[in-house]
Formats: sequence, structure tokens, C-alpha cells
Amino acid sequence: MKRIGVLSSGGDAPGMNAAIRAVVRKGIYHDLEVWGIKRGYAGLIDGELYRLELRSVADVIQRGGTILHTARSQEFMTNEGRQRALSILKEYGIDGVVVIGGDGSFRGGIELMKLGIKVVGVPGTIDNDLFGTDYTIGFDTAVNTVVDAINKVRDTAVSHERIFVIEVMGRHSGEIALNAGLAGGAESILIPELPYNPSEVCLRLRESYLKGKKHSIIIVAEGVASASQVVEDIRTISGFDTRITVLGHLQRGGTPSAFDRNLASRLSAAAVEALVNGNSGYMVGIQGSQISLVSLEEAVNHKKQINTEFLELAQVLSR
Ligand code: F6P
Repeated sequence: MKRIGVLSSGGDAPGMNAAIRAVVRKGIYHDLEVWGIKRGYAGLIDGELYRLELRSVADVIQRGGTILHTARSQEFMTNEGRQRALSILKEYGIDGVVVIGGDGSFRGGIELMKLGIKVVGVPGTIDNDLFGTDYTIGFDTAVNTVVDAINKVRDTAVSHERIFVIEVMGRHSGEIALNAGLAGGAESILIPELPYNPSEVCLRLRESYLKGKKHSIIIVAEGVASASQVVEDIRTISGFDTRITVLGHLQRGGTPSAFDRNLASRLSAAAVEALVNGNSGYMVGIQGSQISLVSLEEAVNHKKQINTEFLELAQVLSR
């Protein structure tokens, strides 16, 4: 292996630049040439590649987003698009690629493998919804962004004795909602892994009110229902004065936390190591404190189990 490529794909996440930095510097440490592929698979098909040197990734560890940019590529879903991608990789003499992204990005990596390219995946998505790793890059930063928002919303909820419904990202996962809800002291956390029951939510609000708690924070993951639907349900059922905050893409930006920087550095260095050792078809994950290799097929075909213990604990502690 003398030349590797690196790309970021899917939704961007804080820490992706730390990951790219580690791929470049670990790759050069192993005397590899490292080529950046811009805009994910779309840029690969368009031949948007450029050589990355040690200085190319100077002063990026603290930056959110991805210097390689990202895009979702319909063309790569076609055989013609994949063949074009393969011809570009062959033209540049690239025989191994580090794919930084989520499950959709890894499915693309599996397609590249079918064409004979060695691929190792680095889990980069704020959703933390990938099987085989306790954490994905960007998740810790996104949770801290949400907790900061909860703190700010709580001030005005207390002042006005209001109910606030805060909608968070996660696509189809309640991981952000659960972790930020517990850390933020939310009174209710609604996640797509469990049925949504507005009457139950309002019963808890009523119980809290009768105990003297005149404000509440409800975190709803976007996969459950829209925050506006939850607000309407609460107003209709309980009559409480209720307001809405949708955090949206705020959760995808910002300087990566120390945890995400170190996670990105460790996982990406291990991904280069895997390619150097001739491994392919794996995602590098972290389980406990151990770096592990999980097959890409397993990572994309299994659903990560949610830890509902956080839910029960949040309900007990927020009374
Ligand atoms: O996968 C990360 C994510 O932020 C999801 O949580 C969210 O639903 C989705 O991307 C939004 O996608 P887009 O940025 O294309 O609107």
C-alpha cells in the first residue's frame, strides 16, 4: 500500500477535521502518500482529488465541519458512477480509502470494496447510531451543544413558568435526546425507539405542576414527531403555556470537544494502521476503552440498541 485516499461523506460532524488530520499524519508517518477526495463520492466521481501533506492539515483540529467537504451522491448509486469512481482511483494509483461518515457512507465503502478497493471506515456522525462502536465522532460535541441550549431555554422557562419542547437531531435514533436530556435535567425525553404517548407526557406534566414545578423541558428526537406536533398535543390536552425550540443544524457545527478530537485521532490513526496491515472491510470503533475492528457489513446491517436506563434515570431525577 503506497497511496491512500480519504473522504468525508454524509452529514458532517465536529471532529471530522481531527480525523482527516490523523489520517494524513499517520499515513505520512508510514511513508504513504495521502490524497484528499473532496465532496465524498460525488467528488470522487468528478475527479476532485488533491495531495495532502503534513501542513495541509495544520490548524484544523479545532475546526468544525470538514475541510474535504461532503455531499450525498445519487450518481454513486449507479453502476456507471461506481465504475467512474474506480477509474479515478486507478488513475491516481490509490488502492486504499479511509471513509469518514455514517451508515450510508459505509454502504458506499462496501460498494468500493466490491470493485477491489481496500476500505476502512471511521464512524463520523452526530447521531451515534452505528452498531459496533460506543461512540461516533461528533456525538459528544452535539450533546454538549444541546445541553448548552437546554440551559439557556431553562432560564426563560423558569421566568415565564412555561413548558418548552426542544427538538433535536438523530435521524432515527434517540441517542442525542437521551444523553442531552439526562445531562440537561429534562423532565421528559421522547425517542423514536419507544412509542409516543402525549397523554402520558401530559400526565407527568400535571403531576409535576401539582408538586410545585411550574416549568418543564421536554426533549423530542426528530424521528418521534415534529416538536410543533408535540406542542400542539400538550396545549390541547393540558392547556399549559407551551413554547418550541428546534435546534436543527446548530448540532452539526462548532469546535469539537476534547473527547471528539481524541476519539477522531485514535480511530483514524487505527484506520490507517489497519490498511497498512492489509486489513479491509472494517469500521474502526471504540468499545469501552478498546479500539476494535467491526466488519462494515455488521456495522450497517445491525441496529444499535438504545440504553433506556438513561430514560428511567432522567424521569426519577427530574421530579
Ligand atoms: O445524520 C446526521 C444528521 O444531522 C441527522 O441527525 C439529521 O436528521 C440529518 O443529518 C439531516 O440531514 P441534512 O443535513 O441533509 O438535512
